[in-house]
Amino acid sequence: MKKVILDVDTGIDDAIGIMLAVKSEALDVVGITTVSGNVSLETATINTAKILDLLDDKKTPIFAGAAKPLTRNPHFEHRVHGEDGIGGALKGVATNREIQEQSAVDFIRTQVMNAPGDITLIMTGPLTNLAEAVQQYPEIISAVKEVVFMGGVVKGVGNVTPVAEYNMFADPEAASIVFEAGFHSLTQVGLDVTRSALLKDEHIDHIQNPVLQDYVRTSTATYRNSYFERNGVWACAMHDPLAVAIAIDAELVKTEWLHVTMETNSTYCDGQTICDFQNRLGHPANMHVCLELDEARFFDLFLKLLNA
Ligand code: BDR
Ligand code: CA
Repeated sequence: MKKVILDVDTGIDDAIGIMLAVKSEALDVVGITTVSGNVSLETATINTAKILDLLDDKKTPIFAGAAKPLTRNPHFEHRVHGEDGIGGALKGVATNREIQEQSAVDFIRTQVMNAPGDITLIMTGPLTNLAEAVQQYPEIISAVKEVVFMGGVVKGVGNVTPVAEYNMFADPEAASIVFEAGFHSLTQVGLDVTRSALLKDEHIDHIQNPVLQDYVRTSTATYRNSYFERNGVWACAMHDPLAVAIAIDAELVKTEWLHVTMETNSTYCDGQTICDFQNRLGHPANMHVCLELDEARFFDLFLKLLNA
């Protein structure tokens, strides 16, 4: 089993990513860390707890992390994820789940240094927690097995600005620190592939557990509606679940080993991931960039995990 820490800003797709990770027999989720992003840190943490309750999970600890980006003000995404971040699907549901006292950053450090070369980090929100961990405990950089993050777009257009994807736009300074840190293995799961991971009714119909099926249908309703208004298709992208799935099965995507830089100081382009396909800058490659997705294989795994 691959030992992973999942770092989330629990919105609609993070929540489904948590389900895949916790239900997977290939992953041992040693803890979930939360971060401000789609919603406030507090809401992201409560949503994470509610999702673990829904899964009847008794063992996965939750650690709260950064309450705001490194230097910027939070940019919440209630427009996409709803007031509560999960499309109102668990409105009125309370949780008594305990949140750990240790901070997300200290938890990451402890786990990584106790098991050098063993821990995979799956990041599905802004990269603030990992950037802070790198700044405070640089010894983790060489001890992390791999980092898989959802964020950015290298060939297409952004989903917050014309050029920036949300997780990168929300904390570009953090992304820049992570990109330049020098991790052995950094994999970018950007909109180039996540936009092909489109959840449709036909997938939801195949979720066997009625509680999970109802949850996924309800939580994604407004998300799918806004995609319909823009694209004319009743669907929504499984950005974060795809990052989890790639940590389980790297063969889901074709990647290239390239240098990617984060823009942090521009009027129009902050949060843009600039990918040097032709190595014009002469910098060494720093990440595996996902460029093509086997959609059928992804949804086979997606349903297998939700039905496990
Ligand atoms: C990413 O931004 C968030 O709104 C989603 O949860 C996902 O992590 C997609 O751009
Ligand atoms: Ca997210």
